[in-house]
Amino acid sequence: MNKKVTKAVFPVAGLGTRFLPATKAVAKEMLPIVDKPLMQYAVEEAMAAGIDTMIFITGRSKNAIMDHYDKAYEMEVELEARGKDELLKVLRSILPSHISCVFIRQPEALGLGHAVYCARPVVGDEPFAVILPDDLVEDGTRGCMAQMTALYAEKQCSILAVERVDPSQTGSYGIVKTGEATGSYSPIDLIVEKPKPEVAPSNLAVIGRYILNPAIFDKLKHTGRGAGGEIQLTDGIADLMKDEQVLAFEFEGTRYDCGAKLGFLVANVELGLLHPGLKDEFAAYLKALAVSGKI
Ligand code: UTP
Repeated sequence: MNKKVTKAVFPVAGLGTRFLPATKAVAKEMLPIVDKPLMQYAVEEAMAAGIDTMIFITGRSKNAIMDHYDKAYEMEVELEARGKDELLKVLRSILPSHISCVFIRQPEALGLGHAVYCARPVVGDEPFAVILPDDLVEDGTRGCMAQMTALYAEKQCSILAVERVDPSQTGSYGIVKTGEATGSYSPIDLIVEKPKPEVAPSNLAVIGRYILNPAIFDKLKHTGRGAGGEIQLTDGIADLMKDEQVLAFEFEGTRYDCGAKLGFLVANVELGLLHPGLKDEFAAYLKALAVSGKI
């Protein structure tokens, strides 16, 4: 019988050092793009893919993420009393009642592979999604993860979302070498974590969206420290590829690297230009800024 992806893992226990001092006490995933925290975009993308169990791998300074998915009684009473029905609706729609949230503590930030391994007791023997909220993907329609679950329904094998990056940037990503493509997907022949440009097998980079078969857990259990001294998900996937096919999927949409300052600013500008209540005024402001000679 075909298996379905119903669980998503959100590894959010990283230290977020690229965004210090903003992330000293506040989780990187709670930084807003226009009016929503990054975390909420990621959970909405999972929900749009039909996923109903959200598993957060959290660490120190991440309590705001849990608070965001708690019912805010005082705020709701206050909004009701003030007749702010639209905002009340917005607040209540953050977590529909059919969605479950599970929070697991990663006691030490040992790396993304270790964070994913922490989800094992809840994921069990099922395929699951991994979404890194600081990679925001805007595709204007169904969402990147829904594109991936559609492919999983057909192929039933692990899938990594990939995109071409500037060859000088390979040292920031897991990089794959692939075989012949069929439409938007291709078999992965090789995966390497953060290779320098001169030794990178391609410029096809893995972004923060994965669907993994549960066999990955036995691999991660034995994965040692790799690049940067961390337990790398990439190394676990390389091990999995010895037993099973893993596919690279070139998704539709634009990815914003919101874990870096420039990507975060670009996402705010571009999503601001899409925001129904803001786009006209914001576009007018940007046009005025351009003619003012300030940029
Ligand atoms: P990053 O490489 O972006 O690291 O992790 P980071 O700590 O979040 O940010 P910088 O580089 O210091 O600015 C990729 C993803 O893996 C998670 C992070 O939360 C992020 O979603 N992660 C990383 C963990 O959950 N645990 C870890 O031990 C490491």
